[in-house]
Amino acid sequence: MGPIFITLEGPDGSGKSTQAVLLAERLRQMALPVVLTREPGGTSVGQKLREILLDPNMRLSVMTEVLLMAADRAQHVQEVIKPALKNNMVVVCDRYVDSSLAYQGFGLMGEISQVKAINEAAIESVWPDLTILLDVDPAVGLRRHRQRKGAYEATGIRHSECTDGLDRIEQRDLQFHQKVRDGYHILAKLYAERFVVIDTTELGIEAVAQRVWESVAQRLEIAHR
Ligand code: TYD
Repeated sequence: MGPIFITLEGPDGSGKSTQAVLLAERLRQMALPVVLTREPGGTSVGQKLREILLDPNMRLSVMTEVLLMAADRAQHVQEVIKPALKNNMVVVCDRYVDSSLAYQGFGLMGEISQVKAINEAAIESVWPDLTILLDVDPAVGLRRHRQRKGAYEATGIRHSECTDGLDRIEQRDLQFHQKVRDGYHILAKLYAERFVVIDTTELGIEAVAQRVWESVAQRLEIAHR
């Protein structure tokens, strides 16, 4: 089996982190060598950048946010993703370049050309083979997200970078999150050859996991041929 690079994308509260874990487990059960990683924060440099990026007390300019996300990604590609792919591993990444195109591009700038150019420099042609977009209405997603974080905090476990529930980016208004979601749909059409869209609104975790698995299995067979 050759290397394969799978990314999970979606608005906040789409459940992609849970799905990334389930997918990695399932791949491991098939005895495939898997690296499960995420952005921002997939390296130790990235962890520091993640703290800055998600801290609600940081006032970042739009370009600073774009560049710090890209810096996190450049380090991640060099340190984790490229070496794993070189070793014929399956890389499952919770958010990647499409997050920057959707959030910083469509969400903040209204277009993606600048974000795309900066990210092309950061990723050195390492585009995903398969991108699974877990789609959800942002109003539903943010509600789910708040409930989940609330549940974590009640147990005393710190889920994210902030104590009051939502991080710096999640705290943006619904209009921003709607632009992000619409942006993802545009990206899914633009990069139709690697995108699979799963509508998670009405589906439970198991049902979403099954659909994720079907798209991955199909892609693995294609990679086999
Ligand atoms: P994530 O780790 O998915 O959130 P969580 O705290 O729920 O685990 O992502 C953190 C936030 O960063 C999320 O709101 C999306 C945002 N983000 C961008 O805006 N651009 C990017 O390029 C990436 C990777 C993430």
